[in-house]
Amino acid sequence: MTYDAWFRDAETGNGRWELDEIVYRSPSGGLLEVAHDLPLLKARSAAGWMKLWDSRYKRTQWPFGSGVWGKKELVLPNIPDEHVVSLDEGGTNLFWAERFGREIGLPDLWVKQCGVSHTGSFKDLGMTVLVSQVNHMVRSGKRKILGVACASTGDTSAALAAYAAAAGLPAVVLLPRNKISAAQLIQPIANNALTLALDTDFDGCMRLVQQLTEDKKLYLANSMNSLRVEGQKTVGIEIAQQFDWEIPDWIFIPGGNLGNVSALYKGFEEIRELGIISRIPRIVCCQAEAANPLYRSYKTGWKEFHPITAQATQASAIRIGDPVSRPKAIKALQCHDGRVEQASEQELADASAQADRTGLFNCPHTGVALACLLKFIARGEVKRSERVVVVSTAHGLKFTESKAAYHLNGPLPGVVPSYPNPMVELSSDRQAVYDAVMRHMERTFG
Ligand SMILES: Cc1ncc(COP(=O)(O)O)c(C=O)c1O
Repeated sequence: MTYDAWFRDAETGNGRWELDEIVYRSPSGGLLEVAHDLPLLKARSAAGWMKLWDSRYKRTQWPFGSGVWGKKELVLPNIPDEHVVSLDEGGTNLFWAERFGREIGLPDLWVKQCGVSHTGSFKDLGMTVLVSQVNHMVRSGKRKILGVACASTGDTSAALAAYAAAAGLPAVVLLPRNKISAAQLIQPIANNALTLALDTDFDGCMRLVQQLTEDKKLYLANSMNSLRVEGQKTVGIEIAQQFDWEIPDWIFIPGGNLGNVSALYKGFEEIRELGIISRIPRIVCCQAEAANPLYRSYKTGWKEFHPITAQATQASAIRIGDPVSRPKAIKALQCHDGRVEQASEQELADASAQADRTGLFNCPHTGVALACLLKFIARGEVKRSERVVVVSTAHGLKFTESKAAYHLNGPLPGVVPSYPNPMVELSSDRQAVYDAVMRHMERTFG
């Protein structure tokens, strides 16, 4: 069976542009989305789709073992398998946070570990799709493209650089100088991308990359390019799959440029259309208080939206004041009664550290989502009996600076750590070491 997919205006659902065209916006300036021939896809039963996708999940047949490409029919149905650029993304651990859940009165709490991925963040999910499509256009001679380019708060550039390097395509990344972590900075450098550290913030980089890609010599790889969303939407589908095609009551996800929350909704809407699920979970988009334009708009009942200049936050990857995917995100949140919450620097640092003490190793963005969850529990909005998934968007190892500041040497602006675990420096004297261990045990067991 040949399935079809094309770009259309995300706001109106009108228009049709082929995926092989280089187009990011509709003539009226609106965002695009990838449309699928859902009536044709519905010719296979819901049970048939579940069986097919389960049979491929984490197996070795190229490229279907990838969590993204296992759902190829609903992602990029027509790309030849040999043009796919996959680093085995998706298929990430859905961690039952049993101990943390018990501590906060939520026995059915799960953390979707999207950071346990090739470049350490959920961005791999979308980048495999975008780079595959570019690879396809270049290899098949359909388009002349010199390379791929993105603006980034760190994770997008890491993913783009790795996938482009795997495909042998030149990558250009625009980063706000001194505003991303050392691990995130070294990733595109190591993957041989042209790494431009600019004297501006992410929003400034985003404006520049749109200008840079205007003449279509470089292909725009930010999530305003709806191909990215096609990969990212599989995170929700995969969560359902990991629960044997049941959906949780709530999903908490950190939001910056808002591609992610839009993608989550798109995935759920499509599998509901295919009859695989019957309802969409309540989704909470979680922002850092320092970078909270969506939260502010939500608080006005969506009546107003004003871009802001995002301030410094430990959650540096969501330091975004003018989110590009805002129209899509607001439309989906409004349609499904989605929520928006925010967390302060103190709240996100403590939530992240508290969860780490139970075996996780959270990035600060996951800390934002966890802190927002704690607020929902405190207000009684999330009930003890409900199943909750927190989407952990990046690996904590990418953000050791803020963790080290929290536990070891500080200072962390606006934060007085509630769960610090400083190291104990000692001579190599046997008795001194023994005494330190015993003091620790006394403190732990009383
Ligand atoms: C680690 C991390 N978490 C969350 C986000 C937010 O995703 P989005 O920008 O799609 O809202 C990003 C990227 O911006 C990120 O890198």
